[in-house]
This record gives sequence, structure tokens and C-alpha cells, in this order.
Amino acid sequence: MNTLATTTNATNTRVLTGITTSGTPHLGNYVGAIRPAIEASQSHDVDAFFFLADYHALIKCEDPDRIARSRLEIAATWLAGGLDANRVTFYRQSDVPEIPELSWMLTCVTAKGLMNRAHAYKASVDQNLAKGVEEDDGINMGLFSYPILMAADILMFNAHKVPVGRDQTQHLEMARDIAQRFNHLFGRGHDFFVMPEAVIAEDVATLPGLDGRKMSKSYNNTVPLFEGGAKALKSAVSKIVTDSRGPGEPKDADASHLYLIYKAFAKPAEAAALREELIHGMGWGDAKQRLCERIEVEMGPRREHYADLMAHPDRIEEILQEGARKARKIATPFMKELRQAVGLRTLSTVAQPKSGQSVKAVGKSARYVSFRDDSGQFRFRLMTAEGVELFCSVPFADPKQAGATMKALQTQTADTVVALTGDTEFEIVLDGQVVAAGVTSESSAAREHLLAALRIAMQ
Ligand code: TRP
Repeated sequence: MNTLATTTNATNTRVLTGITTSGTPHLGNYVGAIRPAIEASQSHDVDAFFFLADYHALIKCEDPDRIARSRLEIAATWLAGGLDANRVTFYRQSDVPEIPELSWMLTCVTAKGLMNRAHAYKASVDQNLAKGVEEDDGINMGLFSYPILMAADILMFNAHKVPVGRDQTQHLEMARDIAQRFNHLFGRGHDFFVMPEAVIAEDVATLPGLDGRKMSKSYNNTVPLFEGGAKALKSAVSKIVTDSRGPGEPKDADASHLYLIYKAFAKPAEAAALREELIHGMGWGDAKQRLCERIEVEMGPRREHYADLMAHPDRIEEILQEGARKARKIATPFMKELRQAVGLRTLSTVAQPKSGQSVKAVGKSARYVSFRDDSGQFRFRLMTAEGVELFCSVPFADPKQAGATMKALQTQTADTVVALTGDTEFEIVLDGQVVAAGVTSESSAAREHLLAALRIAMQ
């Protein structure tokens, strides 16, 4: 399809997600996002892209130390949670300059009205109106354009599936809208972007917090994941709100968020056992103890790994740098293609009729451009509608012969005249004669892409 094929398996499902680096990860982040994403990445037919959305963090956090600390903590959390950086492409958004570059291209095709409808922006406006201040008070352009940067994150790697919280579904719809618009404007029958889909894990997406509302930093009801050690975990669990039934009294397990948190860690049989014990009067204190122990089984060894990583930030840095290299292996050639598509091209490829040149439009507005080379011989090129050169003819001493060859090619389709040579080249063969040399590609996948363009041009 596009250049992705050179570094990932074309038939695999590409799963991508990011976490904004503005806080310390808590149990809810782990259960709702990190753990399921890592599990998904272990499947053999998945290519996973996990990243730290640190440009997104700048939108809502103006405390540089907090951003720096959060990037480290979140990176260490992914790794301690079991992410295999050799399998997964694991990187920081800000290490891939192609992402903000794409974000700008997408910004230029996104209707302002679409962004006006974004929930996060609208909520801020509503708050301002309620406060009686000007509607855009304190709202920066980062917040306004947030969904476009997110679309760039996703479209850059042509992700099929994007695991996110329910609050992000609108952003995925917007990413699709924007992708479609770009494809329509610049694709000319070829889709640059696939349509991404949100994946919302219904059962785990919202872990309840200490007070029973969704566990979230903004409600101040979180259970810390690694920071503060087992002690902090214990102290948070002791604050879980329960009803006032004492030991010996039967408890309604399903209505208690303590039990819901337990369920997120326990095997079904273990959960059923605790449920029974609660119904038979287990005290809340004992239940909290059991919860702590159960979380500790899964998180204890990971916490050690986390502490070790946090003590060696240089190791994490190296992993992320390697991840950025992997990501850019995809992003750089893809961006090159997109630059071509929108018209940001090397000037020497811009075909324009000069004196002594004649231009003949063919196919989907592709064109043959004839010219005289440095030695005075007659040649012609076939260019796509976007001005990308597809092939260049051999030199002809006689301009009529060059013209006749060009004309003959116009009655052919690409498939009848293309002959592949090596992995990255091709020739144009007419009546057994090589009449032109195809442009050499960087890879066989890139050549496929060029040939697709040639087929359109010669239609
Ligand atoms: N907006 C996401 C959140 O707050 C984070 C994010 C940024 C993201 N870019 C993304 C998630 C791309 C998935 C894909 O949760």
C-alpha cells in the first residue's frame, strides 16, 4: 500500500496508542490502558506503536519539571508493565518531527468548524460562559487543535486500531474525517491514510477510584501504581470508601468498588471466592488486606523492575531513541510522499513547458514532457499529475522517432510495457526494445508504489 510495508508486515493489524505525559500513572491507567495494550502487542499478527504524547502534555501543563518527570515515569511504567521494546515501536512523539509536520498539513485541510465542535474545547468554553468571562478565556491554540495533532499521531503510522478511553471516541471520528478529506484532496484515487478505529475495552476502561467515581487524577481518588512503593498502595487501599456494614454482616460485593478493583486483578475463580466471603460477612478491613495482597502479586515484581529502570534513566533514554529511529524509518519516507502530494516538491521535478519542450496530457492528467538532453538528443519523460517523474526515455537522434515512441506508449497500459529489473528498478519495453528507464526507487515497496502511480498515469 504505502511505504509502511518496508518495515512492518503489511498484513498485520497496526495498533497504536499514546499517553499524555502530564502526570504520574495510577492503577486506573495501568488496568484501563497500559495492560490491555501490552497484551494486544503480544499477538503475532499485531504491529504495535506505543508512544509518549509529550507534545500533547504541553497543552495542559506549563510546569517543565513535571513534564520531564512524567515522561520518565510513564516510559518506565510501560517497560515495567512488560512492554517488549524489540517487538513494539515505542517512542516519544517529540522525537518524531514528522508528526508535527503532518499535523500542520492536516491543520490546513481541517475545517475550523470541526474543531469548534470538539468536546474538550466546548467544555472549556462552557466553563468560561458559566464564569461570565469571555468564551475563549485562557484557551490556547494547542487545546483548540488538539484533535489534529492526535490525528497526525494516528495517521502518520496508518494505525488500524487505536485503544483509547471512551472520552476519546470523538477524536477518532475527527481523525477519520481529516484523513478522508486529505485523501480526497490529494489522493487522486489513491488513499494515503487508512481509516483508524477506536477500540474501547468495555470491561476495564473505567476502574473505579477510592470514592467509586472513575479513577482519575482530576478526582484525586487514585491508587498509585509504583510510586511510593507497597506502603503507598496500602495507604490508598485503606481509604477506599465502603458501606458501614461491620464484620459478620453480609455485604453486597457487586455494589462495592473495592470488589470491582479486585476483579480487575483476580482470576474469575478468585473473584468469585472473594465475592462469596463478602456475602458471608467478611469484614471490609480483611477485604482490603486481600485486595492489597492480590495487587501485590501482579505489581510487586513489576515495581522492582520499575525502581530499577527509574534508577537508570539512561537505559530508558536509549530505548526511546531506538524507538524513534524505528518510527522515523516509517515516518520519513511517508512524509516525503505526502510532501510530494501537496506540492512541496524538489524544484527540478516541477514540470513546466519551456521553449523546446512540449507537454502532452494523458491518463489522469499525467503528462509526457519532451526535451533535448545535454548532448542535444531528443527524449521524453512521463510525469504524474503531481509532477513526480515515472520514467525517462532513451535518447533519440531523430525527434520524429522520439515522438512516435511516445505516441505508441500512449496506446499501451503499464502492465504491457513494464519489465522489472532487480528489486528497485524497471524498464519500459516496446516491441522487444527498451525505450525508457524507470526512476529507481529506494526499496521494492517504494517501487510498488511508483508502479501503482504509473498504472494510473497510463490508464
Ligand atoms: N488524547 C489521548 C488521551 O488523552 C492521548 C493521545 C494523544 C492519544 N495522541 C494519541 C491516544 C493518539 C491514542 C492515539 O488519552
